[in-house]
Amino acid sequence: MRIVLLGAPGSGKGTQSQRLVQRFGIPQISTGDLLRSAVARGTPLGMKAKDVMAAGKLVDDATVLGMIEERLAEPDVAKGFILDGFPRTIAQAEGLDRMLGQIGKPLTAVVQMEVPNAELVRRIAGRRSCQNCGRVYNIYSMPVGAAVVCPSCPDNPPLYQRPDDNEATVIERLKVYEAQTRPLVGFYGKRGLLQTIDATGEVDAITELLIGVLNSPVAAQARQVARAVPARKSAAKPKPKPKPKVKVKAKARAKARTSSRAKTQTKAKARARPKVKAKAKAKKSAPRRKVVRRAAAKKKKQAPRRKK
Ligand code: AP5
Repeated sequence: MRIVLLGAPGSGKGTQSQRLVQRFGIPQISTGDLLRSAVARGTPLGMKAKDVMAAGKLVDDATVLGMIEERLAEPDVAKGFILDGFPRTIAQAEGLDRMLGQIGKPLTAVVQMEVPNAELVRRIAGRRSCQNCGRVYNIYSMPVGAAVVCPSCPDNPPLYQRPDDNEATVIERLKVYEAQTRPLVGFYGKRGLLQTIDATGEVDAITELLIGVLNSPVAAQARQVARAVPARKSAAKPKPKPKPKVKVKAKARAKARTSSRAKTQTKAKARARPKVKAKAKAKKSAPRRKVVRRAAAKKKKQAPRRKK
């Protein structure tokens, strides 16, 4: 199964992905988690993404696609994967199509999780996460008066609130979702991959709904079509044929020989040229001077002597 979970911030993509991981034994790939990890480690990518995420905007397509390409090259995705929070723009979806097309493993299902905006804002305001295990909780579904700690980790570390889960950023994230991510509904709809679920209600009930659509005839047919898709290896740029080393060496040697011969000839010419010119000058100028002198003497003899 190669699945995309689409949905607005707070629609439950992360929560349901973790459950699908248990059910199908395939990894969850969350671009939000990958970016948060880069921010926490202070990598160059993380430093670039930090302010963009805090403002509720989208990190640029090239960065996210590069991150996904690296992740899809890891061996644990061979059996399938759940993409959570990716793609988020048409350019990302087209990039993903190209990547998967080249390995002959197209998507098998895209599920759009619909939740009304008021519920999204409530869920995001109550969200708390564990930095240790990555599990996501909500203070509204915790027993009243319970400590806000991770019940799954042995030392029960305190849960934290994501820096982008404040009111102003949430409003921006919802706007960005409508403008840049919602168009993917049409994109995948046209490809016959999209199924939509109502993602309001109990978490367990939504999981069952999700598993239902992933096992539906529509998804089964998409998987069958995907199995028949060959790898589009030709889509990758063919590498230029390496020229045989011997030839290159021979060529280089010949070139060097020619150029050194040319240099020697040029030097010799340069040295020879002034001598030839000087001789020629000497030949030309010498007789002319004699002729001029003889003519002057003749003129002197012939000239009548002035009377005193
Ligand atoms: P990301 O981490 O992906 O955030 P998001 O898409 O905004 O989604 P959320 O994680 O907020 O919500 P979710 O749908 O996973 O809901 P959850 O299960 O946690 O991205 C963060 C930022 O990174 C982006 O703003 C952007 O800057 C950047 N980024 C990430 N991917 C990118 C990309 N591809 N391109 C560019 N930039 C990218 O649930 C929410 C809460 O509700 C939880 O508390 C949960 O316990 C609770 N809950 C879940 N289900 C239910 C239910 N049925 N009933 C009641 N409560 C529920």
